[in-house]
Amino acid sequence: MSEAPSRSVQAANAYGRFTEDGREYVITDPRTPRPWVNVISNARAGLVVSQTGSGFTWVDNSQLAVVTRWEQDLTRDSSGRFLYVRDVETGEVWSLSPAPCLPAYDRFECRHGLGYTTFRTALRGVGADWTLFADPEATAELWRLTLTNELLTPRRLELVAFVEWNCGVTPSPRREFTKLFLECERDAGRNAVFARSHMWEVGSERWGHWNTGFPYVSALACTAPVSEAEGDKAAFLGRLGSFAAPEALSGKPWPGLFGRHGDAVGALRVPIELPAGGACELGFVLATAETDEGTRELLDRFGKVEALDASLAAAKARWTNLLAAHRLETPDATFDAFLNDWVRYQAISARIQGRCGYYQQSGAYGFRDQLQDSQVWLTVDPALCRGQIALHAAHQFADGSVYHWWHPLSEMGHVTKMTDDLLWLAFVTAAYVRETGDLSILADRTPFLDDAQPVPLVEHVLRAFERVFRRTSPRGLPYIGAGDWNDGLSAVGLEEKGESAWLAHFLAGLLGEWAELFSRTGEPARAAEFVKRREVLVAAINEHCWDGDWYWRATLDGGGKIGSCENERGRIYLNAQTWAVLNDVAPPDRAAAAMAAVKEHLVSPAGALLLAPAYDRPVREIGYITRYAAGMRENGGVYTHAATWAISAAGKSKDAGLVEKLLAAIDPTRKDPEAYRAEPYVLPGNVDGPDSPLHGRAGWTWYTGSAQWLHRVVCEWVVGVRPELDGMRFDPCLPPSWDRVRMTRPWRGATLDVTVVRDEALVAGTVRVEVDGRALYGTLLPPLPAGATAKVKVSCRPA
Ligand code: GLC
Repeated sequence: MSEAPSRSVQAANAYGRFTEDGREYVITDPRTPRPWVNVISNARAGLVVSQTGSGFTWVDNSQLAVVTRWEQDLTRDSSGRFLYVRDVETGEVWSLSPAPCLPAYDRFECRHGLGYTTFRTALRGVGADWTLFADPEATAELWRLTLTNELLTPRRLELVAFVEWNCGVTPSPRREFTKLFLECERDAGRNAVFARSHMWEVGSERWGHWNTGFPYVSALACTAPVSEAEGDKAAFLGRLGSFAAPEALSGKPWPGLFGRHGDAVGALRVPIELPAGGACELGFVLATAETDEGTRELLDRFGKVEALDASLAAAKARWTNLLAAHRLETPDATFDAFLNDWVRYQAISARIQGRCGYYQQSGAYGFRDQLQDSQVWLTVDPALCRGQIALHAAHQFADGSVYHWWHPLSEMGHVTKMTDDLLWLAFVTAAYVRETGDLSILADRTPFLDDAQPVPLVEHVLRAFERVFRRTSPRGLPYIGAGDWNDGLSAVGLEEKGESAWLAHFLAGLLGEWAELFSRTGEPARAAEFVKRREVLVAAINEHCWDGDWYWRATLDGGGKIGSCENERGRIYLNAQTWAVLNDVAPPDRAAAAMAAVKEHLVSPAGALLLAPAYDRPVREIGYITRYAAGMRENGGVYTHAATWAISAAGKSKDAGLVEKLLAAIDPTRKDPEAYRAEPYVLPGNVDGPDSPLHGRAGWTWYTGSAQWLHRVVCEWVVGVRPELDGMRFDPCLPPSWDRVRMTRPWRGATLDVTVVRDEALVAGTVRVEVDGRALYGTLLPPLPAGATAKVKVSCRPA
């Protein structure tokens, strides 16, 4: 939405910039206000790396199966894996990323890309180019390194790679206990050190608590010959040693302590001789597999520089190909790069695959969270969304309730009194059918957690609905229990008396949608029942939940309201307004009033606030939302996830000015890093609201459900290309500064090439659609023959 007509990506700040094509973010000053990281993953393995080089590595679960140790200290940001260089002639030592030595480089760049991060440094005439990435398939983190001698004299160097083994659950506050079970071993023939743990803090039904080994073996290896290796931290650092100047970098021989009795680390010492102006190419492999043989096989597979280069090319191609089919082109190239590439990369790499960020190592699947995230697959690979739906259906109990979250590997799940989780199964299933038109998903069979008999997905969905129907107040509103979408409203309805207006809006939308679905699956009676239920619910909402100028948010077990003008704090909540609009619960006058109230009380320069004013002290009856400092996270901050829904509600209300304002407000590429602090290339979970002294400060980046939602909201409610059961709807609400947008996307086996333009010749408030040069009657395009490409021109004039 910038005024600049330029198609190249802009947005430079004091710390970095995007590359022209927007596919890399180049950090030139490592002293960013907060860590600016990359979350790199494939379907099983991953790593996080910040602009200092700090970070960690995991396989299958970023909390339960963490390979390398890391300390979550975002201020020091100096913990994890390191690569050191030592000049043998002078004894000078530095690191090839800022951590841990913080060298004053002659040249420095940290380039975060889709699937890799590269450190380009130069110091004392040694140029280094170090790229960290994960193979697209294998459980292997790979480091590709080029060292260049930029002087006119030959150089003798030593390269030292270091990791600290975790091999288990993280964080590990009982390191003195867990380290007793670690074992490390040198494999001189493979230039490698291996690590395993004989105890894993994940129980097993068969063998009991703390009585199984970590079910993986990890190894760090170098493609070049290794002169010495070390397996003990005290030997590496020296007494009271530091990572900035470890004893192992003092030129002395290494003791080489391995086995079961030390403090397990993995370090490799690699002698390097560089002729004047010469370079050397090498790499490291950090591999993890279920068995010794499996790990050895990975080391052998990636044991050559050529194999690393092929893997890096494949990792880059994977992201390019995945994101290529669905593209958006607005007048703002920076926004396009952010939305087309970074936001979807964030959703897939950090949320779906890694389930991890620098602010939170989770590893678990949130029942509602990854279901929503999986909508990112809908346009490019809907089968993956279908797979996610099946996975979540299998984490439902036969009474319709679900785990709030569960851990893959341990299958440990959390049973709560949250009341919305289960309904997201219905929500995302309906979204899948709207996109694909494929009702066969309803017959996909999965068991329940407590009943091994597989039943069709539609049965899972019905049990969820029935459970919610049973938990309804005498006046017809759903109970809120221990929270609905808002986890922090954790005490509002513990006695099952408190009601949720947001959940009522959410349910009303689903009832309408499933009524339509049932009318297509040959179940007219069920369809009619859902239509009726929706009517009754909408009537109850409008009878009881209207607060005068907006919808209140919930009632407490004790009877009071929250999100009401009767409250001093938490007087108005965002989702209670936006979802009333999105799900056609509010009659037109109330929809207009609710959106006006959003504008008056909740729109801030940082985005739409989740509620206002923030709570200023703990209120036990409401829950932990009130225990956050004022203006932080759900307590009156911009909760980006909900802020994206506000954009769809503005789009649905055809308030183009508000769409523009809200989109710009949460766009990280436009922020002043001193106030905003977090990465400019991904979305944060939250931004401090006006009741915080740090209004505008972003945090909890990467691991947020807002990434997928922003992409979807812009495509469906701003550009307005929105799948419905019977076809594709064209219903744009372009920000005033966008006069033209193009979107290409796959659709049910065909391809749509859509251009949306503003046309002042049209009657205000109308939309005109042409398909391959011919006028379409109305704005709904019926499905096309598979393989077809349709050129669609959508002309619109705002009201
Ligand atoms: C967190 C949770 C998500 C919840 C949201 C709002 O992001 O993971 O499930 O909806 O907070 O509380």
